[in-house]
Amino acid sequence: MDKLVIRGNGPLHGKICISGAKNAALPILMACIMPNGPIELTNVPKLADINTSCKLLNILGCETTFENGTVRIECGQRNHEAPYDLVRTMRASVLCLGPLLATLGEAKVALPGGCAIGARPVDLHLKGLEALGATFELTEGYIEGRCDGLKGAHITFDFPSVGATEHILMAASLAEGESILENCAREPEVTDLANFLNACGAKISGMGTSILTVQGVPELKGCKYKVMADRIEAGTYMVAAAITDGELFLEDCPFHEMDAVAYKLREMGVWIHEKPTGVLVRRGTELVGVDVNTRPHPGYPTDMQAQITALMCLAKGASTVEENIFENRFMHVMEMVRMGADIRIKGRTAMIRGVDRLMGAPVMASDLRASASLVLAGLAAKGTTEVRRIYHLDRGYENIEQKLNGAGADIRREKQ
Ligand code: UD1
Repeated sequence: MDKLVIRGNGPLHGKICISGAKNAALPILMACIMPNGPIELTNVPKLADINTSCKLLNILGCETTFENGTVRIECGQRNHEAPYDLVRTMRASVLCLGPLLATLGEAKVALPGGCAIGARPVDLHLKGLEALGATFELTEGYIEGRCDGLKGAHITFDFPSVGATEHILMAASLAEGESILENCAREPEVTDLANFLNACGAKISGMGTSILTVQGVPELKGCKYKVMADRIEAGTYMVAAAITDGELFLEDCPFHEMDAVAYKLREMGVWIHEKPTGVLVRRGTELVGVDVNTRPHPGYPTDMQAQITALMCLAKGASTVEENIFENRFMHVMEMVRMGADIRIKGRTAMIRGVDRLMGAPVMASDLRASASLVLAGLAAKGTTEVRRIYHLDRGYENIEQKLNGAGADIRREKQ
């Protein structure tokens, strides 16, 4: 297993190019099970989760190649079983269930794993698919589903779950008749998936709102599609500029999707300026503490919670972070405390008092965004920080150390 060794090396300066969005690419890859004919996806980030998705597609009967950010896919005779060994590492792989039911009428998919940031059940996914006519049995860690053709339905989600909205959107695209989905997640990645499905011939409307309407079609066809840029990666590098008191130009930054993050960073004193090809970010004034509540989009994203917490550690005065999406998403906090941060947790709220300095220390990465926040803390800390167990980071950030080192960081990857 690898670790990152980070020597606090002063302000970062330079240009970082933002990659395609992992959280858009993963559901789109699972949707690729459905269309007949070749598909070409561009701007796909080179990440462990993307490789896992391609392997899963191969097992399900789709041929894939992945070169220079382009995935080419063509499905032949589909198989209906997604084995545990692939699904356990990546929660998004459960999204193959609906597409398999829609195309084959049967599916057997292992219950997913993924980041350890909470219980993360899939009940909303299954309830939605049941409303479309599927039936399920849970056997030995597998979900076995069947249907005799999916039928459009009126579904109101109990919670605007990103994954459940994406899942039902895919399945409803090939269901017979109209589906009206209410209380949908409005995350930009859901819109990206809907745009991809429409490019394949689906009829989805209402993108970006909480009500999506789907007119089922009998068949989807292949297409060429460019995956959106990664707003969470971009937000992470915005914090990197601010926390090191440097200046970064983030090329291809999807700034129009980042209102809540930009608003909070600006409130903290970060200067963010949009330009035609990207966004320029630096610390404007002294950093000051703020209060953040994570919410479904367009609220402040939970995937940017750990990173802004790192910045708050060095801001003047007090900050609070209330985590409302996942119940177990403060695992980075104890590691930051080991680096000299002053943070206390009460229930779902972290209370942070800014300190003058963080100190390098060996720390343990626990999930994807927690890992990124520890790298950020390490960039600003005095001395050397070792971030251990970084396989999570490789699931979500393309070339993170190359990108940061290109802007003046001192990060080495070593065997643990
Ligand atoms: C997606 C993102 C993840 C992000 C999250 C919230 C991907 C691959 N992952 O995850 O990075 O942090 O959105 O923005 O896109 N829930 C249920 N039952 C369900 C489904 C969800 O109770 O059937 C709960 C979850 O446990 C969690 C909350 O709903 O507490 C939000 O989950 P959801 O929006 O579904 O997140 P994911 O799609 O898993």
